[in-house]
Amino acid sequence: MNVCEYKPGLEGIPAARSRISYVDGQQGLLEYRGIRIEELAAQSSFLETAYLLIWGQLPSKAELENFETEVRYHRRIKYRIRDMMKCFPESGHPMDALQASAAALGLFYSRRALDNPEYIREAVVRILAKIPTMVAAFQLMRQGNDPVQPRDDLDYSSNFLYMLTEREPDPFAAQVFDVCLTLHAEHTMNASTFSAMVTASTLTDPYAVMASAVGTLAGPLHGGANEEVIGMLDEIGSVDNVRPFVEDAIANKRKIMGFGHRVYKVKDPRATILQELAEQLFQKNGSDHYYSIAVELEKVVEEKLGYKGIYANVDFYSGLVYRYLGIPTDLFTPIFAIARVAGWLAHWKEQLTVNRIFRPTQEYVGEHGHSYVPIEKR
Ligand code: SDX
Repeated sequence: MNVCEYKPGLEGIPAARSRISYVDGQQGLLEYRGIRIEELAAQSSFLETAYLLIWGQLPSKAELENFETEVRYHRRIKYRIRDMMKCFPESGHPMDALQASAAALGLFYSRRALDNPEYIREAVVRILAKIPTMVAAFQLMRQGNDPVQPRDDLDYSSNFLYMLTEREPDPFAAQVFDVCLTLHAEHTMNASTFSAMVTASTLTDPYAVMASAVGTLAGPLHGGANEEVIGMLDEIGSVDNVRPFVEDAIANKRKIMGFGHRVYKVKDPRATILQELAEQLFQKNGSDHYYSIAVELEKVVEEKLGYKGIYANVDFYSGLVYRYLGIPTDLFTPIFAIARVAGWLAHWKEQLTVNRIFRPTQEYVGEHGHSYVPIEKR
């Protein structure tokens, strides 16, 4: 067996063979099942994209309608999960609430029939359908209100925004939000997908797999960056303060949130689309104080760090769009999770066809030959 050289963060080490998505970090190219993200963002919907990712091809009209109906039917969550969430501290982070409630789903659907296609389909539908309901439920509960039931007359994104705000969303806002979900749905071997695959490789249930992935996405170096970006723009405060901020960050080796990527060494194509969405919203409803700071920040970071391949990533403009849609900052990452569930499920399903438990090796750099020393002699 050939042993690869140790690579911190497994940089450049293939962990799987996959047909789900493809990224060219030099060209700034992203494809889902061979279709460019720009085309899907412009012409598809999140649920249709989720179907494409999970089942490998675009659905027929009938297949899509059937899938949408199935997901619509499974949006409700057990009252026991709602009751459990009522015990969560209101000050808790919504990603911790989501991780706990995603794992709790497994208590109700724990049968692990991973060799049964019907079980797989049910798990896919339930997880896609219930994650948004749980995110919205915690939001209302932490405000001291009862969660609202999903509305079957609303599409996937409109229903989520309705459950979150108790108001039917503006159709344009719902459409922009749906494109954001498509953009965040999948991204090859990112940390949370890899975490999902390691958990899945032990053949545990899909709800435990989702809970692992949610916990991994929460970190500020991964899905948590979008929330950090808004805090950083707040800290900068004005366009004039951008350059001093960047120079200080570089001098102090401080990571600038929303920039850099393990794979992209040019601007993340998703950031480009999200910036266009932000501009569409601002043209329609008036510009945003943060946007002018963000544009200046992107310019200065490119000037100072572009030579190192550090450019805006997906998290840089997404927060501006969500904030403009009236979404609280600490819900940005749970929304990332709502979208990425499609990619996690796609990789879970793909892996079950060729599964082998993940168990890498290590380079031992410790010592040998020590003896136990009784405590009275230490
Ligand atoms: C996502 O993997 C995916 O596909 C993720 C994702 C997805 O869709 O799933 O695309 C979503 O997670 C996007 C990334 C969101 N995170 C952030 O915006 C946090 C800030 N970014 C960095 O932490 C960093 O760029 C990472 C974590 C994204 C990538 O880190 P790497 O590849 O491990 O790079 P590194 O930390 O080893 O840095 C290499 C060099 C270092 O400089 P030197 O020591 O070589 O001189 O680049 C510098 C770093 O200091 N650097 C940055 C920087 N990112 C890297 N310097 C300033 N600001 C940054 N943001």
